[in-house]
Amino acid sequence: MDWGLKNRISRILQPKTGKTVMLAVDHGYFLGPTTGLEVPRKTIAPLLPFADSLMLTRGVLRTSVDPTTSTPIVLRVSGGTSILGTLSNEGIAVAMEDAVRLNVAAVALSIFVGSPHEKETLLSLTTLIDQAYNYGIPVLAVTAVGKDMKRDSQYIGLACRIAAELGAHIVKTYYCEGFEKVVESCPVPVVIAGGKKVTEREALELSYNAIQAGASGVDMGRNIFQSENPVAMIQAVRAIVHDKASVSEAWELFAKHKNAKRPAVKQTV
Ligand code: R5P
Repeated sequence: MDWGLKNRISRILQPKTGKTVMLAVDHGYFLGPTTGLEVPRKTIAPLLPFADSLMLTRGVLRTSVDPTTSTPIVLRVSGGTSILGTLSNEGIAVAMEDAVRLNVAAVALSIFVGSPHEKETLLSLTTLIDQAYNYGIPVLAVTAVGKDMKRDSQYIGLACRIAAELGAHIVKTYYCEGFEKVVESCPVPVVIAGGKKVTEREALELSYNAIQAGASGVDMGRNIFQSENPVAMIQAVRAIVHDKASVSEAWELFAKHKNAKRPAVKQTV
């Protein structure tokens, strides 16, 4: 693999653990002002030191993130639809030259396997991979799941494997029963989305189960930034992903940081 590609991937998947805590704040690209992300700068700033990478759009990156940050950027480059339209009808919405200008560590695009736009989104993925290869930029494929689509290991496994076969370097998907099979049959690292907000304890359990099943980490959004204490929550998730913490240990850490008077300091890798 090309040096630039390897270098960028190692900025996302931490070499010490081989895992990653990605903070996803790209929801506005089709959802508009999502709860907890109404003013992106306010949400992102306190969480940034605890994220191994930040996944977002170029609009929010340029307007709402300090350019002196050392946190790697995973740029959402697919778009063109909204919650009011047909979500699967996305295309590539950013030129690769702009991703290079923004010094990103990776670009991300959603595929909609089983949707009316399956073919278009899969071919957008291959187009993006070809474009990104010219610059040594890895591609993260997001296996988006429509409201009416199943989230079982057969479907998730199918979507993840297709993304990897087409050349994605990392795949982001949803956790499901039998997730070990999904990871085993996907030849590139798999990270999980958090999905809709659940209790903090449930989100920690989800992270723990995914890591136990072989996931390479999380690309989590709402269960961090909609938490009653986002900074405490991201640290608890880090403990599971990087420090082999159990759910109870991570839960205790969440409680400790939630009650801390002084601002937290990043301690794990
Ligand atoms: C949705 O398509 C976006 O890519 C989000 O980044 C993704 O769903 C992860 O966020 P959450 O943990 O809130 O599901």
